[in-house]
Amino acid sequence: MNTAIVRRSIPMNDLARGISRDREILTAAFESVLSSGHVVMGPNHSAFQRELGDYLGVAHVLGVASGTDALELAIKAVMPLGRSTVITAANAGGYTSTAAKRAGYRVRYADVDANSLCLSSRSVEAELSPDVGVVVVTHLYGNLTDTTELVELCHTRGVRVVEDCAQAIGARLDGGSAGSFGDIAATSFYPTKNLGAIGDGGAIATNSDEYASAVSQLRQYGWSSKYHVAVAGGTNSRLDELQAAFLRARLPLLDAFNERRRQIVARYVAAAVGGPLRVLSAEGPHHVAHLAVALSPRREEMRAALRDLGVQTDVHFPVPDHWQPGFGSDPQVLPVTELVAGELFSLPCFPELTDDEVQFVCTAIGSLA
Ligand SMILES: Cc1ncc(COP(=O)(O)O)c(C=O)c1O
Repeated sequence: MNTAIVRRSIPMNDLARGISRDREILTAAFESVLSSGHVVMGPNHSAFQRELGDYLGVAHVLGVASGTDALELAIKAVMPLGRSTVITAANAGGYTSTAAKRAGYRVRYADVDANSLCLSSRSVEAELSPDVGVVVVTHLYGNLTDTTELVELCHTRGVRVVEDCAQAIGARLDGGSAGSFGDIAATSFYPTKNLGAIGDGGAIATNSDEYASAVSQLRQYGWSSKYHVAVAGGTNSRLDELQAAFLRARLPLLDAFNERRRQIVARYVAAAVGGPLRVLSAEGPHHVAHLAVALSPRREEMRAALRDLGVQTDVHFPVPDHWQPGFGSDPQVLPVTELVAGELFSLPCFPELTDDEVQFVCTAIGSLA
């Protein structure tokens, strides 16, 4: 342990701080739902769908119960008839694998680009075969990469692109928002996300009337109208009215929170210069710094030194999907994914960290040898 620094306790996250800061607007939202008597698919739900659609610049947003449900319903809605395989990255926490398997499809992985840690058109092209119907691209850690080539490649092969924006809501590139570049997008409002609910929630976003209509049926038992089941594979996955009201209250704050996250990461990047860690940059509007991610071949040693100083860390994500026994994937070798999974870890990064706490983490980073 570094004896020159007095130990502090810096958490990876502390949801109580954001709830306490937003207590007034959240309470007002709660009261409005109680007074309205609408608890499922009510006016807040409709308004939130509209408001998030305007924010993202997409024609349709549909609330669902979680980000994983959003991925599942998005994949189901866009999968071309006669195809049955989803390609995705194996370094994004397994949510797409869970969703695609629940939808009844096979999953294969493409390696990620060594710089962006996201899929590239080159890595996806190597995996495309006639059974592939959907590619899910995850904007990992908040980094909205340029998907133009990837989308073009997929479309020339009749493959649909789903964007997973769970970590990248509010990221913008060339005037477009994360979620507006593919055929459809999925996002999560899990409480630690950049736009977090007070419980679970998710949404899909799309400019396609056809896909929006498919998801609106799939999220409610496959109904075309009440008690009339028009499509197979429906479920009950709704964003409840309370969560919609909380999210409406927080949406106007999102850009400021994203900016705060970027500032925190920028300070960690600067603090790591010349030391044994490399902290990934999160500069510019295309990055919303969902996580502050560091890389080191001596990861466990670095994490232990930070833990001794009271700085919590975590690993997003330690086991690539193709190595998870529960996914039962075919054997694959993914060199970049596998190398990076052994080196990366996350530092505390949430908007409610105080300047003083951020400075302490910087000092702790600077003390690493
Ligand atoms: C990239 C990514 N996709 C999907 C999800 C799934 O969202 P949820 O937990 O709401 O199901 C998460 C996070 O939880 C995520 O980080």
